[in-house]
Amino acid sequence: MGSLIAKTTNRQNKTFLFSLITICLLLLFTEDSFAEFDHDQTGYLLSGNHSRIRCETCHRHGIFKGTSKKCEGCHGQGTLIAITKKPVNHIESSEQCDDCHTEVSWLGARMDHLSITGSCVTCHDGIRSTGKNPNHIQSHNRCDECHRTIAWIPARFDHSGITASCVSCHNGTISTGKNANHLPTSDLCEDCHRTSGWIPAGFDHTGITSACINCHDGSRAAGKNAGHIQTSNICENCHRTSGWIPASVDHGEVIGTCVSCHNGTIAVGKGQNHVPSADTCDDCHSTTRWTPVL
Ligand code: HEC
Ligand code: HEC
Ligand code: HEC
Ligand code: HEC
Ligand code: HEC
Ligand code: HEC
Ligand code: HEC
Ligand code: HEC
Ligand code: HEC
Ligand code: HEC
Ligand code: HEC
Repeated sequence: MGSLIAKTTNRQNKTFLFSLITICLLLLFTEDSFAEFDHDQTGYLLSGNHSRIRCETCHRHGIFKGTSKKCEGCHGQGTLIAITKKPVNHIESSEQCDDCHTEVSWLGARMDHLSITGSCVTCHDGIRSTGKNPNHIQSHNRCDECHRTIAWIPARFDHSGITASCVSCHNGTISTGKNANHLPTSDLCEDCHRTSGWIPAGFDHTGITSACINCHDGSRAAGKNAGHIQTSNICENCHRTSGWIPASVDHGEVIGTCVSCHNGTIAVGKGQNHVPSADTCDDCHSTTRWTPVL
């Protein structure tokens, strides 16, 4: 017990002495000489603009020990020491000033988004800090649905967990919709599109029982183009849903003479070394194969 008292008294004495010396320093030295005091020795570095502040501004009433070392201890709202406080219109943030500020200046704050509490748009409204520019995609979504805090670009939208129909967002107002040249269709976007990208557009034919022509009329979906082989046959006789090419021709269903198609343009024609003949092809050929001849 005795030794503890002795220790305490000893420490108090030391502090008292140190304080006394310092006060003497304060009294004796001119303002210029304040810089002479090596504050680093106290274990608290006076960096930035702090090195130019008069001792008593921080050490009110000549009290040195126990002076707050935390920024917010002096610059927080309601403290007695520092003049500059966190302004009331300050961006919503935690009290850890040094997450974003240094002692050099309050301006040009380094933005540590971990210390923020507000939603992105409370700051990123184009006034308090960077907001959406006028060309920004139309969207009512929250910024952080598409942006991370590290950088604005690249932006991404995470569709996982989205259960709403595509068109509830992709209507050209909230986000990208069909452009003017889009093939005319009243089908659901999800029938043809996946979220990974608009192109390629695919169409899931599974479960489709209606005739191809119901959709493949060149309007609702791709139809026969102008150079298509002459046929009034139904599409399904020659095409499968996996791709238009290769087409397998069912000759039982085609219309027109053999040569109307087999002219070397629409379909294979006579080769250069073909036996000279003016007869119709089917005089010598069947529709199953060219060789051997009938
Ligand atoms: C920006 C504020 C600030 C200014 C200006 C400042 N100090 Fe300090 N000082 C501190 C802080 C903070 C401590 C650490 C207090 C602690 O550790 O308990 C400290 C510690 C000290 C201590 C040691 C206290 C102890 O017993 O551990 C002394 C002595 C001291 N300062 C003297 C000075 C003198 C002399 C000046 C002017 C030349 C000065 N200080 C200017 C903030 C300041
Ligand atoms: C012991 C009290 C104290 C502590 C702790 C303290 N400051 Fe200061 N600081 C002051 C005083 C006093 C001033 C000068 C008066 C003023 O500008 O408020 C000042 C000034 C400043 C200035 C200069 C403002 C200007 O425009 O010149 C900045 C920047 C600053 N402090 C940032 C910080 C940061 C960041 C921290 C934490 C790392 C911090 N301060 C910790 C007391 C303190
Ligand atoms: C999450 C980051 C962050 C935190 C934490 C933070 N600030 Fe700020 N502070 C800013 C930003 C950003 C600005 C605006 C800087 C600019 O305009 O260059 C600012 C501006 C200021 C300004 C006004 C500068 C001026 O003259 O307009 C003061 C004063 C200030 N902060 C003090 C504080 C204090 C005190 C604390 C701690 C209690 C604190 N800040 C905590 C980010 C932060
Ligand atoms: C408390 C205010 C505040 C909030 C809330 C906030 N930010 Fe920031 N953010 C800033 C400030 C200040 C800057 C730096 C100045 C600027 O770029 O406007 C910044 C910078 C950025 C930058 C640019 C980074 C760089 O280095 O280019 C991005 C990206 C960003 N914020 C995204 C976000 C996102 C996403 C959210 C929501 C999760 C968000 N911010 C929330 C204040 C905030
Ligand atoms: C639906 C997704 C989405 C939402 C929500 C969104 N953005 Fe964006 N943002 C984008 C896309 C996409 C870009 C363009 C990125 C590119 O050019 O690679 C972009 C670009 C930006 C840029 C421009 C970057 C540059 O330097 O050109 C800023 C700034 C920006 N957004 C801010 C915001 C803010 C602030 C919010 C919230 C108020 C927000 N965004 C909400 C998708 C979104
Ligand atoms: C909650 C709103 C929402 C819903 C629902 C939604 N999206 Fe999106 N989607 C977005 C936003 C926002 C973007 C990013 C901005 C933009 O490209 O319009 C986006 C982007 C896309 C992109 C572009 C991706 C890229 O990297 O280029 C595709 C493709 C897409 N969505 C398809 C779909 C499909 C398909 C569905 C339905 C299964 C769907 N989305 C449902 C909001 C939504
Ligand atoms: C019947 C199938 C079908 C439906 C339904 C459909 N699309 Fe498409 N979409 C396509 C095809 C095919 C393309 C062209 C793809 C290509 O060029 O390879 C396309 C292209 C697009 C593109 C343009 C991609 C680009 O950059 O050129 C967008 C955007 C788009 N569709 C959005 C939508 C939206 C939004 C919906 C729902 C409201 C929708 N589509 C419904 C088939 C469809
Ligand atoms: C309910 C409407 C519908 C019906 C019925 C339908 N399709 Fe499609 N099909 C589409 C749409 C939409 C696309 C994608 C847009 C486009 O290519 O025009 C498509 C695409 C295709 C493609 C292109 C696939 C690709 O990956 O390039 C082929 C081939 C196809 N259909 C064949 C058929 C055949 C054969 C039938 C009949 C057995 C058929 N479709 C029935 C709507 C339909
Ligand atoms: C008698 C057989 C036959 C019938 C019936 C038929 N097609 Fe074709 N189609 C073909 C052949 C052969 C090609 C050319 C394939 C090639 O170039 O290898 C073709 C090509 C196409 C192509 C072009 C593929 C491309 O990218 O060049 C489309 C689209 C197409 N057909 C759609 C249809 C549609 C829609 C129907 C029904 C309305 C239909 N076809 C009926 C045989 C047929
Ligand atoms: C409506 C157009 C059309 C008509 C009419 C037509 N064909 Fe074809 N035929 C094709 C197409 C398309 C193919 C397959 C693509 C090709 O070989 O260029 C084909 C393929 C063939 C083949 C090759 C079969 C194989 O599997 O190798 C023979 C042989 C053939 N036709 C004979 C005939 C004969 C004989 C006639 C007249 C009785 C005839 N075709 C009428 C379009 C037609
Ligand atoms: C007088 C009989 C005759 C007539 C008419 C005829 N061909 Fe041939 N064609 C032949 C003979 C013979 C061969 C050679 C068979 C062999 O090599 O076994 C042949 C071979 C072919 C071959 C195969 C060539 C090759 O090198 O593989 C094609 C394709 C062909 N004929 C198309 C036609 C078309 C198209 C017509 C009608 C415009 C036609 N032929 C009319 C007798 C005829």
